[in-house]
Amino acid sequence: MPQLGQEHIPANEAAAIQAVTDISDRILKKQPPVKRGEHSKGHGCVRGRFQVLEDVPEALQVGLFGQLGRSWPVCIRYSNFSVKHDAQGDAHGMALKLFGVSGEKVLEPEKDAPTHDFLVVDHPVFPVRNAKDYVDFFAEIERTKSRNPVHFFITGWNPLRWRWTELWIALAIRLRTISSPLETPYWSMVPYALGDKAVKYVAMPHRHNWEGDFWRRLGFRSRDYLREVLREHLKSRPASFDFYVQVQTDPVKMPVEDPTVRWQGPMIQVAVITIPPQTFESPAQAEFCENLSYTPWHALPEHRPLGGINRTRRLVYDTIANIRHELNQVTYQEPTVEEFEAVFPAEGELGR
Ligand code: HEM
Repeated sequence: MPQLGQEHIPANEAAAIQAVTDISDRILKKQPPVKRGEHSKGHGCVRGRFQVLEDVPEALQVGLFGQLGRSWPVCIRYSNFSVKHDAQGDAHGMALKLFGVSGEKVLEPEKDAPTHDFLVVDHPVFPVRNAKDYVDFFAEIERTKSRNPVHFFITGWNPLRWRWTELWIALAIRLRTISSPLETPYWSMVPYALGDKAVKYVAMPHRHNWEGDFWRRLGFRSRDYLREVLREHLKSRPASFDFYVQVQTDPVKMPVEDPTVRWQGPMIQVAVITIPPQTFESPAQAEFCENLSYTPWHALPEHRPLGGINRTRRLVYDTIANIRHELNQVTYQEPTVEEFEAVFPAEGELGR
C-alpha cells in the first residue's frame, strides 16, 4: 500500500534508466553546435525574480518556501518540446534557475552550486508512466526517427491493450498551441518532496500578462512567433506568474509513481515570479542561455525530485548536458549570481 510522500522503486529500474540514457545519447544530433536533446528550440532566456510570499502556511514553510518574503534572481528559459514551427502543437517549457540559493544541493558533484531549478511545462500530466515504459517510448522514436511514436500507444491488434491514457495525453499535447509563453499555465507534471510531503508545482500567469494587443492573437503565426511575442511584450510591459504547490493528500488517487494521473486538490500559493520589461537577445545573453543546463536535480534536498520519471531524468539530463557541453567545447559549471547579472543586468527590475 503506497504511503504519502513515499517512492516505490520497481525492480530493474536502474537498467531501464540506463537504456533511456543510451537511447537519448544515440538520438542526440551531435553536429556542433549541439542543441539540447529535448526542448532544443528556445524562445529566449529572461531575467526575473522569484519571491516567496510572507504568509506561506506553516506546514509548507520548508526549504525555499520557509524563507518568507525572500527573493532570488531567476533566469527563465522558454522553449518548445520538439517542434521548430511555433504554429504546430507541442508542449512548451518554462525552466527556472534561481541564483544565490545557499545550502547543499542533492547532486554530489554540484552540491555547492548556488542554483536551484524548477522545470514546468504547459500540460498537467506526462504521457509516459515510468522508466520501463520510457524505454519503449524512446525505442519507438529511435526506430521510426519520428516524434510520433504511434506504436508505443497502439501496441497491436487488440485495442484493449493499447495505451489509451497515454495516447490521449500525447494528443492533447500535440494539439496545443499558445499565443504567448507568458499567457499559459505551467505544471511540473511529476512530484517533488516538500520535507516529508509530496507536492506538484503549478505556475499561473497573472491576468495582466494578457493585456495588450488583442488582434495579435488572431493574426498570422510565423515560425518564431513565440519569440517575437516575448520580445514585443517585454519591450514595454512586465509579466508575472503565481507559483503554487499542490500537496498530495491521497497516496492512491494522487500517486507519486504515475505522472499520467492528474492530481486533484487545492493549490496553495507560495511564491510569485516577476519579469520586468527588458531586452534579452544580445549575443552574450543568447550564448549564456544556450549553455545553461537545467535539471530538476539542481535542488535543495528538501525539494528532492520524486518518482520514477524524475529518477530517470537524473542520469539523462546529466549525461546529455555533459555531451552537449563537451562537443561544443564549453567548460560548464553552474553560474553564480554575479555571472548571471553580468549578462542579464538588473536595471529596471521591479521590486528589487
Ligand atoms: C524520463 C522523462 C524525461 C526525459 C528522458 C527528458 C529529457 C530531457 C532532456 C535530455 C532535456 C535537455 C537537457 C539538456 O540538454 O540540458 C530536457 C529538457 C527539458 N525537460 Fe525533460 N525529460 C523528461 C521528462 C520531463 C518532464 C516530466 C518534464 C516536465 C516539466 C520535462 C521538462 C523539461 C524542460 C522544461 C526542459 C527544458 C529545460 C531547458 O530550458 O534547458 N521533462 N528533458
